[in-house]
Amino acid sequence: VVIDTDTGIDDFFAIVQALRSPELRVEGLTTVGGNVPLRYATRNALRALEYAGRAGIPVAQGSARPLHGRFQYAFYFHGPGGLPARMPRPVIEPVQEGAVDRLFRRATEGGVRRTPFTLIAIGPATNAARLLRRLRPLEGRHRLEHLVVMGGAVDVPGNVTRFAEFNTWNDPEAAAEVLAGDVPTTLVPLDVCVPVRIASADFEQADPTARRLGLAWLKRHPGRRLGLADCVAIAAVTDPGAFGIEETAIEVDTSHGPECGRTRRAGRGRSIRVARRVDPDRVLGQIRERALAPVIGRVDTPR
Ligand code: RIB
Ligand code: CA
Repeated sequence: VVIDTDTGIDDFFAIVQALRSPELRVEGLTTVGGNVPLRYATRNALRALEYAGRAGIPVAQGSARPLHGRFQYAFYFHGPGGLPARMPRPVIEPVQEGAVDRLFRRATEGGVRRTPFTLIAIGPATNAARLLRRLRPLEGRHRLEHLVVMGGAVDVPGNVTRFAEFNTWNDPEAAAEVLAGDVPTTLVPLDVCVPVRIASADFEQADPTARRLGLAWLKRHPGRRLGLADCVAIAAVTDPGAFGIEETAIEVDTSHGPECGRTRRAGRGRSIRVARRVDPDRVLGQIRERALAPVIGRVDTPR
């Protein structure tokens, strides 16, 4: 898999969860603006890899802007640099190649021997949309076999307006293109993310760094529990049995009006897999074990 991320706090934990999931082989990360500017998302992605002891995994930078306009950052939610507590400056650097070029090469080079891969998009779908535009002329003759998109809110209110979820709101055109595209797609909307929230008790047995990040977030948001939507998207790949899937077409409001970014079932258009039901305790168990649990042999180094 390749994970496309706008690395805020839930992306950070989702990357660690994926790296510690035996069902996945994380080949690389690509970054996109969204929660924070691209350079911060990239820095936090590098931090997540170093933290998990996987500094060899390549990170390629993608879109600093959505297909139209500018990203609206979520500093209020994630913290000024995208994480709610200080982390060491990463030693490793991103690769020079752009994210979409790298994803296109992964999807088209290496001949029939090259194994297919899944792209898991846990930020605005800008990079994914740009990749699909370049793959479309190949009419399926490529190795991108599955797209998993964290985004949208179908039968529940949005989290950035009452209609829209943050990722689809930040690049509605990209979300619309991706959900209407020709690559088999699974959407993981807020409907199955809202029930998965963690509180301070979940950090008691956690790794010291995870606890520092989690408790710092909870301190910034008194009385709230931390939603880890991106971790739910990872669980939809590692533990599909924890979810109920509905096949339906989804349309995205790209009007840039009050319902901008809203996702609804559509009467027409191609059907995609939409996660509609979740066993929250089963997903929470995986998050505690794989995203929050102590990283063996690590010492917290808050420089
Ligand atoms: O709405 C939740 C999504 O928006 C998550 O991906 C979170 O990281 C933010 O990007
Ligand atoms: Ca995200």
